Amino acid sequence: MAEARREHFGGRLAIIMAMAGSAIGLGNIWRFPYLAGEHGGAAFIFVYIIASIFLSMPIFLAEAIIGRRSHANTYGAMEKLAPGTKWKWLSILTILAPLIIVSYYSVVGGWSIEYLVKSLAFSFNSTPKEEITSMFAGFISQPWMPIVCHTAFLGTCAVILTAGVKSGIEKFSNWSVPILFVLILIILVYSLTLPGAMEGVEYMIKPDFSKIDSEVILAAMGQSFYSLSLGVGTILVYSSYVSKNENLLVSGFGTAIFDLMFALMAGFAVMTAVFSAGVKPGAGPGLIFESLPFVFATMAESAPVVSGVISILFFVTILVSALTSGVSLMEVGVAYLVEEKKMRRGVATFTVFAGTWTLGCLCSLSFGPMNGFRIFGNSLFEFCDWISSNFLMAIGAMLFSLFVGWKMKKSDVYDEFTNGGTLRFNVRCFKAVYFLVRYIAPLVIGIIFLSGLLL
Ligand code: TRP
Repeated sequence: MAEARREHFGGRLAIIMAMAGSAIGLGNIWRFPYLAGEHGGAAFIFVYIIASIFLSMPIFLAEAIIGRRSHANTYGAMEKLAPGTKWKWLSILTILAPLIIVSYYSVVGGWSIEYLVKSLAFSFNSTPKEEITSMFAGFISQPWMPIVCHTAFLGTCAVILTAGVKSGIEKFSNWSVPILFVLILIILVYSLTLPGAMEGVEYMIKPDFSKIDSEVILAAMGQSFYSLSLGVGTILVYSSYVSKNENLLVSGFGTAIFDLMFALMAGFAVMTAVFSAGVKPGAGPGLIFESLPFVFATMAESAPVVSGVISILFFVTILVSALTSGVSLMEVGVAYLVEEKKMRRGVATFTVFAGTWTLGCLCSLSFGPMNGFRIFGNSLFEFCDWISSNFLMAIGAMLFSLFVGWKMKKSDVYDEFTNGGTLRFNVRCFKAVYFLVRYIAPLVIGIIFLSGLLL
């Protein structure tokens, strides 16, 4: 009976838009370019694409199969599909993980609000160039302003969530994802016309295979998971809002293609600009907040208005893409509280907001007043990122693939993947997908996991 009351996404495109909204985010614009920059450009991208096809796609499908089969939140799904077992307790991990991620994610989301305001004030044009890079360290170490921005970011996610799956998540992603593509296309076209841009293009397309080592492989695989929102129940919960007659393979493939296209477009846009301004590509996590404003300042010397406008478009893109991802991360907790704890949606959203806001504030303060507080040598922000991206996401992804590969009945998995044997193409590739989910994914994740622990 409860199922009849659950909301559903309204059609194939809406599903792909919502999932792409979750997938496309800081991972594409912030993490992907800087990782590519640190790990040799094209060589990294090559491994990233291979990992996305052979590892991330099967895990995506495993999560989607659990979600749609059960039409429930992460905890409820395990209880429904494996009643009376310990799986549901393990699933609690995958409910905590997205909440930890969203706590620090929204701090970075907050930075992008601040940088949007800075670009609206045309500050990159008026600040002396040598001060631009230090501006970032100065800002994040302040106690108040970053918290105000973090609150604004998380609050906006909460407002969208309160509106529900259809009128909140679906509506917001339906208009924002196409706009994001238009924006990134404008930025990309502009950056390709910058002097010296071709050097950046070359860096992104000419792989130097000798650069591929275990570190590059691990970074590329981890990024592929992160970018597709895998391992923490986001895809599971979104798939639980997908109706029985939709094709999961199409939703998964559609999402992955959009996500990949976006990452590549953002990567090219950032790298060409970075090369054109003579900045080093391997600047690390500060790449878009330190190096890009420097690029905007360099552009402003010859074309101040264009530079100002492009910087505004760029930070709007980051902010909007981060919002749709933040929403998807919070939805995992909200769905759990609504369905398992019988809370009203508004109350559940507020509860999730309150918890993640508090942890987020501490993460933000860990760049300034609380910098002395260390966990295994890491600041709280670094620790939250590390424990979620290297640890909880890997465990979650392994858990989901083991569940589908070993716990669920093969006939049920087949039924869900092929819509009862009616989807011809899915029937044909079932064996390969099942093999990847049952053996390859858990094995490879096990390796990532161990090395994440050891590195
Ligand atoms: N994929 C998003 C990005 O690229 C972030 C995100 C949303 C995420 N949901 C997730 C990351 C779940 C890991 C797990 O920015």
